[in-house]
Amino acid sequence: MDKETVANNFIGNSIIIGSDHAAFDLKEKIKDLLLSKGFTVEDAGANSLDSVSYVDYGKKVANAVSCGQFPRGILLCGTGLGMSMVANRFPKVRAALCSDVFSARMSRVHNDANILVMGGRIIGDVLAFELVRTWLETEFEGGRHQDRIKCIDL
Ligand code: RB5
Repeated sequence: MDKETVANNFIGNSIIIGSDHAAFDLKEKIKDLLLSKGFTVEDAGANSLDSVSYVDYGKKVANAVSCGQFPRGILLCGTGLGMSMVANRFPKVRAALCSDVFSARMSRVHNDANILVMGGRIIGDVLAFELVRTWLETEFEGGRHQDRIKCIDL
């Protein structure tokens, strides 16, 4: 990635998204939704329904968020479990596996989650879109929650 691309990625409405094959279709739909709302979207793959390891794509997205190349990311696999496990090993990544709107909202308000994880085999498209919308629109509350999240990284 060149310097200009990195700089542009710091704008608030840029996001990186990744999935494995199990959630490839949902990733494509969420990408279209984000593009239609004016987001700049970096697609880290996967690029087809061919079987791949979620680990590779989870690492790509989590690393980009961990390094500050992207302020936020979205990760999808069949259950969301594998992607969560991978992403949360990266410093400064707070990945939230969500399948309900309240959790998606609270992951921002209290946890300042910077990666939203969903399971493409768990939730339907409409709920996934609602989770994405809620998660992107909700601000972190800061204050005592800031004190808490700063203790997460070891
Ligand atoms: C792929 O079959 C599946 O294992 C993966 O999408 C995910 O659910 C892993 O946690």
